[in-house]
Amino acid sequence: MVLKRRIVLFIILSLCSIAFAQDGLGGIGDPYFPDFGNNGYDVQHYTIALNVNMEEQTLNGTAMIESLATQDLSVFHLDFLGMSIKQITVNNAAATFERDGRELIITPETPLLENQPFTVHVVYNGSPGKGVSSSNLPFGRGWTWISDGVYVASEPGGSAVWYPVNDHPLDKATYTLQITVPQDYTVAANGLLQDVISESDGRQTYLWEAENPIASYLVTVNIGRFAMLETVYGDGLPLRFFVPERFADELPALADVTKEMLAFFESVFGVYPLEAYGIVVVDATLDFALETQTLSLFGRDLLAGDQWLGIGGADIVMAHELAHQWFGNSVSPASWRDIWLNEGFATFAQMLWLEYTQGTAEMNAIYDSWYDNISYLSASRNTPLADPGDDNLFSINVYLRGALVLEALRQELGDELLFAILQAFHETYRNGNASIEDFIATAEAVSGQSLTDFFTQWLYERDLPLSPLSD
Ligand code: ARG
Ligand code: ZN
Repeated sequence: MVLKRRIVLFIILSLCSIAFAQDGLGGIGDPYFPDFGNNGYDVQHYTIALNVNMEEQTLNGTAMIESLATQDLSVFHLDFLGMSIKQITVNNAAATFERDGRELIITPETPLLENQPFTVHVVYNGSPGKGVSSSNLPFGRGWTWISDGVYVASEPGGSAVWYPVNDHPLDKATYTLQITVPQDYTVAANGLLQDVISESDGRQTYLWEAENPIASYLVTVNIGRFAMLETVYGDGLPLRFFVPERFADELPALADVTKEMLAFFESVFGVYPLEAYGIVVVDATLDFALETQTLSLFGRDLLAGDQWLGIGGADIVMAHELAHQWFGNSVSPASWRDIWLNEGFATFAQMLWLEYTQGTAEMNAIYDSWYDNISYLSASRNTPLADPGDDNLFSINVYLRGALVLEALRQELGDELLFAILQAFHETYRNGNASIEDFIATAEAVSGQSLTDFFTQWLYERDLPLSPLSD
């Protein structure tokens, strides 16, 4: 009897641990963030509907997730942190679920079969971002309430605080965002604003559609009392700019400089890859910016003066975030270890813009000072660019040495070849993902040279190679 009971208990415990921890489904395999993302399916489209109470700082949400099973699944995970779940259905049948940290573990009534499309509905409510933290980075918290509004910045893993998601850049998907707010607020989000629907209670629903796939950390919803300017670039690329109402006078200048930057970056990186672009300036001092897809996010510090984060004029950081739309957004990192493909490339691009507007001597002087700066980094900060560590994703080495690598490659190969490599890399991996090794392979294929020594020194080792500007 006792023995039997033990056996039963053992079986129950092993079943639990299979379901919760050892099913291999919770965690997509990122070397730095093992619990980010999930295996077993591939999300195609998210429809996120949020009814937001600005006074109470709460919301009611429903998420519809259209997905494809990539294996047979009797259970699957989503990432979701905080808030309360009211109901989950899978293919319109009630499903059972458990929660464990970021893991939302769902058991559908009927197991899913490999290659089968399936739809998950999650009904939830609460105050996103309250009482849970997915990150201590200000640009990583996800949904953030400010004094009279909301911004959403989620790099690398903050999206899980506001919707259930396969929260890793490897599973990019398209989005519909339906955000209902009081009449005196505006919602600025990814993609194109398709409609503003008046609700019977005097509220308004903003319907935003993003047609190019987005990595979850680049999904954004911003609520505020905004002034807006809409215009087009070139053959009709929609541009839209949002700033707090009292800064409305700044809108034309933001639009003009953005158009100049688009023309410049298209000349070096190729045609702008997404369905729209623009900027949202939220009514808070952020001390960071984020390249949220098709609508880069800034704090009002962007408009405050001629210095921004000590890196020069506001246009420099605008150039940085715009360049990310090619490098980081259209081509996303395959894992967070590949962050150099984002930050090194965008920082190199901001320097190209600086060279274009201020001249080569000015660019070289800044590279010189960066080179000095990073030669004194402590060992804990001077980690190899190809494996910086999760604590150093956004450290200055990734940005400054990251840009110097590409400037060094430019010195080695010349402008024509370097830009051909960048364009080929973007073309090959657009709307998808790439690793550092994929970039190296592209550089070698396009240049027809072995670049092993070059990249070994610059990316895989700590010692700083000679400055590209030393002669
Ligand atoms: N991806 C963002 C950017 O560089 C991250 C912001 C990091 N900010 C910082 N000060 N390190 O555009
Ligand atoms: Zn960046």
